[in-house]
Amino acid sequence: MIVGNYLFSNYARKPFEIMEGDGCYVTDNQGKTYLDFTSGIGVMNLGYNQPKLNQVLAEQAQKIWHTPNLYDNHLQEIVAEKLIQNKDYLAFFCNSGAEANEAAIKLARKATGKSQIITFTNSFHGRTYGAMSATGQPSIHAGFEPLVPGFVYVPYNDFAALEAEVTDQTAAIMLELIQGEGGVTVADSEWIQQIATLCQEKNILLVIDEVQTGIGRTGSLFAFEQFQVTPDIFTLAKGLGNGFPVGAMLGKTELGEHFGPGSHGTTFGGNKLGMAVASEILEELSSELLVASQQRSQQLFSGLAEIKSDKIREIRGKGLMIGIELDPEVSVNDILEALEIEGLLALRAGTNTLRLLPPLTISEAEITLGVEKLKKVFTK
Ligand SMILES: Cc1ncc(COP(=O)(O)O)c(C=O)c1O
Repeated sequence: MIVGNYLFSNYARKPFEIMEGDGCYVTDNQGKTYLDFTSGIGVMNLGYNQPKLNQVLAEQAQKIWHTPNLYDNHLQEIVAEKLIQNKDYLAFFCNSGAEANEAAIKLARKATGKSQIITFTNSFHGRTYGAMSATGQPSIHAGFEPLVPGFVYVPYNDFAALEAEVTDQTAAIMLELIQGEGGVTVADSEWIQQIATLCQEKNILLVIDEVQTGIGRTGSLFAFEQFQVTPDIFTLAKGLGNGFPVGAMLGKTELGEHFGPGSHGTTFGGNKLGMAVASEILEELSSELLVASQQRSQQLFSGLAEIKSDKIREIRGKGLMIGIELDPEVSVNDILEALEIEGLLALRAGTNTLRLLPPLTISEAEITLGVEKLKKVFTK
């Protein structure tokens, strides 16, 4: 096998390949098995090799893989209904988080007739031009300028700084409720309430990027339920397909007239295979599973709190989206490598935060095992 000859080097890849997965475990090409606290970067919320999802995908594959968005698609209607749950939203399906955010940005501008969108320092919204321009990280913009105009970045959790940037051209305020890639930084509830009030007063759309926080990751179907806010637009991807590429943009019903025929579209979005899988995922993501994932979250937080190590500065997050901020002297990559040797896969967030995103289906014993491995590495 030739590795490294034919691909762009835009990913800093580890020198091993994951070949199989089952539940919360993955096995590499050397036959080594790892407990997976990454969920494939917040994707495999129901774990690997989930029998019902395998079955649904195989059954749909026997019927038809794809139909263009020129025809009715009852599977899109079913998934939309399950996501919307009788609330006042409409759905648009696409294939990724970046595309969902592109749709959100386009809808926000078209519906308001305004151009400015306020986003936040250290945010991450994707790599396409609009989503990248929304992302408040200079390192992600570097070399790709000029960006899409109209984006303004302000510090997260700072209401005065945000308010100072609002103008009569502000179409939307767009944010993650927990900044995932940026460092697992949790929004202050009070700050979110202030933003929601500001949006109402000034006729600004509140756009919440739930690409990483959504689909049960933080202990509720959507993170905004825990912050008691109602977004005008929210976006999903990652866990919505459990590995099948699916994204969604949901917007308040009254915005619907601005996304009429011909306004926006995609060839593959809402693909039958993806919709069959997403529909089953939303069935499997029962309230019992969400409660169990909250219990596992408490177990993981208390297990981590018991690790006494001067390498750890702070532990934060919600549900099974947890960040361990390290002492600035400690390298996240060194910790990740040491964990790999112990048979645990984890992720980095920001510059010095270790990020844990285990599948929501993880068992009590698997959390205990993961904490043991983390303890071993942190107390070495
Ligand atoms: C909050 C958030 N938004 C958007 C994206 C982009 O999603 P995708 O990689 O599917 O385009 C990500 C990916 O990590 C994300 O975490």
